[in-house]
Amino acid sequence: MSMLFLVLAWGTIIGFTWFAFSRILRLGKKADLAAADGGGRAQWGTRIGLILAMAGNAIGLGNFLRFPRQAADNGGGAFMIPYFIALLLLGIPLMWVEWTTGRYGGARGHGSTPGMFHLMWKHPLAKYLGAFGIFLPFTIGIYYCFIESWTLAFSWFSGTGAYWGNTSREAMSGFLQGYQGVAPNEFFASVLPAVAFLALTLIFNWFFLARGISRGIEVLAKYGLPVLFVFAIVLAVRVLTMGTPDPSFPERNVAEGLAFVWQPDFALLGRASVWLAAAGQIFFTLSLGQGMINCYASYVREQDDVTLNGLATTMTNEFAEVILGGTIAIPAAVAFFGIAETQQIAAAGSFDLGFVAMPVIFQQLPLGQLLGAMWFLLLFIAGITSSVALLSPAVAFVEDEFKWSRVRSVNAVFAVLLAGTVAVVAFFRYGFMDEMDFWAGTFGLVVFGVIEVIIFGWVFGVERGWQEMHKGAQLKVPGFFKFVIKYVTPLYMLAILGVWTYQDAVPKLLMHDEAEANIPYLWGARALMLAIVGLNLWLIAKAWRRHDRSPAAR
Ligand code: ALA
Repeated sequence: MSMLFLVLAWGTIIGFTWFAFSRILRLGKKADLAAADGGGRAQWGTRIGLILAMAGNAIGLGNFLRFPRQAADNGGGAFMIPYFIALLLLGIPLMWVEWTTGRYGGARGHGSTPGMFHLMWKHPLAKYLGAFGIFLPFTIGIYYCFIESWTLAFSWFSGTGAYWGNTSREAMSGFLQGYQGVAPNEFFASVLPAVAFLALTLIFNWFFLARGISRGIEVLAKYGLPVLFVFAIVLAVRVLTMGTPDPSFPERNVAEGLAFVWQPDFALLGRASVWLAAAGQIFFTLSLGQGMINCYASYVREQDDVTLNGLATTMTNEFAEVILGGTIAIPAAVAFFGIAETQQIAAAGSFDLGFVAMPVIFQQLPLGQLLGAMWFLLLFIAGITSSVALLSPAVAFVEDEFKWSRVRSVNAVFAVLLAGTVAVVAFFRYGFMDEMDFWAGTFGLVVFGVIEVIIFGWVFGVERGWQEMHKGAQLKVPGFFKFVIKYVTPLYMLAILGVWTYQDAVPKLLMHDEAEANIPYLWGARALMLAIVGLNLWLIAKAWRRHDRSPAAR
C-alpha cells in the first residue's frame, strides 16, 4: 500500500514537472523574457533566472525539515491525500493569483501588497490590509534567519568534525542546546558562536538583497539551486542505498523507512488537525499568503507569462519537497533508529530530526563529515534563497513607496531586523520563536491568503483577474480554476481558519498550555509583533500622505 502511494505521488509530481518544463523548452526562444522595459523598476534578467529565483523563494527549510516531520506525524501516506487536495485547490490557484497580483502591481510601480491592493480595490482600507504582506514575511524572516544560521554553523561543525564523538541523541541534543544558548554546557560556554554565525548569515542576506533583483537574488538562485539539487539528489541516493545499516536489527532498514513515510493511516483522515496540517504545509512551503510571491512577480514584465511559470515553480518546489525532502531525513532515521524512536523524533519537532538525529547518523556513515556538511549546506542554500524573499516585500515597500535607493532601503529594513533578531536570540529558550511562528508563520498566512483571494476573486473580480492572468500566458488555465478561485479556495480557507481559530488559536491566545515562567516572554513576542505591525501601518499612512501630496510619486 505504501508503495502504491509513493508511486502515485512521485508519478504525479514528475508528470506535471515534466509537462511544465517540456513546454517551456519547446517554446524555445519564444520562452525568453521580453526585452527590458527600460526605465522604472528593476526586472529579472532571464526566464531561467526568474524560475530559479521563484523556486528558491519557495524551496526552503520547510521542504527538508518541516515536510518530512509533518508527514510522519500526520498519518504518512494518508497525509498525502489532504496534502494533494490542498495543493490543487489552495496552492496552485493561489500561486497564480499571487503571480498575477504581483505583476499587476509591479507594472504600476508597487512591489508590496499595500500598493497592489490599493490598485485592485479603491478603498482606503485596502492598503492597510496589504500590510499583512509585509509584516508577516518580515516577522518570519526574523526567526528564519536565526535557524538558517544554525545550518551554516552545523555545516562547519560537520566539516570540521566538531560534534564527532557525540554518538547518542542525548549527547547531540546537548550540543544543539548549548549552541542555541538554551543551556550553556561543556560544548558551548555562551551563545557567542551562535551570534557569530547569525551575523555572518545576516551579512550574506544583506549582500544579495543590496545587489538587487537580477544582480543579487537572481545570481544567488542561479548558482545556489543547482548545487542544492545536486546535494539533495546525492543524499537521497545515499539514503536509498543504505539497506540495513545494523544487521543485528534487520527491521531497521530503508524500505521500512519509506514505508513509514508512505504507509497510509486512513483513520487519521477523520481528524481536522491532519487537514489543517496539510493546508498549513502547502502555504508555508509554497511561500503563499505572505506577499513573497507577489513581490518577486512584481519584477516580471507586464507582457511575460505568469501561468506556465507559476506552475513550473510550484512543481519544482513539490519535486524538492515530496521526492527529495520525503526521502532523506525520515527514511534515514528509521534505518538507524527504528520506527518507534523515529516517531518520538518526529513528534519532538523538525529540529530534533535535522540537527540531532541526522548528525548522529552521519557519524556512523563512511564519509560522514562530507555528507553532514552537504546536508547542512543544502539547508543553508534552501534557507538563504527563501530568507532574501521573506525580507523582499519590506525592502520593496521602502524602495517603491518612499523612493529610497536599494541599498538605503535594505539598510533601513536590516536596522529593524537586527532589533528583532536580538530578542529572538536572547529569549529563544522561553519559546519566543515558537510564539512568533504560530501567529505569523502558521495562522497569519491563512488569514492573509483569505484576504488575497477575496480581493482578487470578488473585489477586483474573477473575470478581470482571469483576463489579467492570461496576458502573455503560455498556458491556458482550465476554466475549472475560475470557479475554484472564486468559490472553493476562499471557502476552503475560511473553513480551515474557523476550525483553527477554535481549536488552536483561542487556547494559544489565552496561553492555556504554556509554562508559567515563559508567559512574560511570550507577551514580549506579542509586543514585538504588534510593534512591527504598528510601524508598518504608520509607514503606509505616511507613504500615502506623500503620494497624495505628489501623485506623480505614486
Ligand atoms: N517557503 C519557504 C520554506 O519552505 C519559506 O521554507
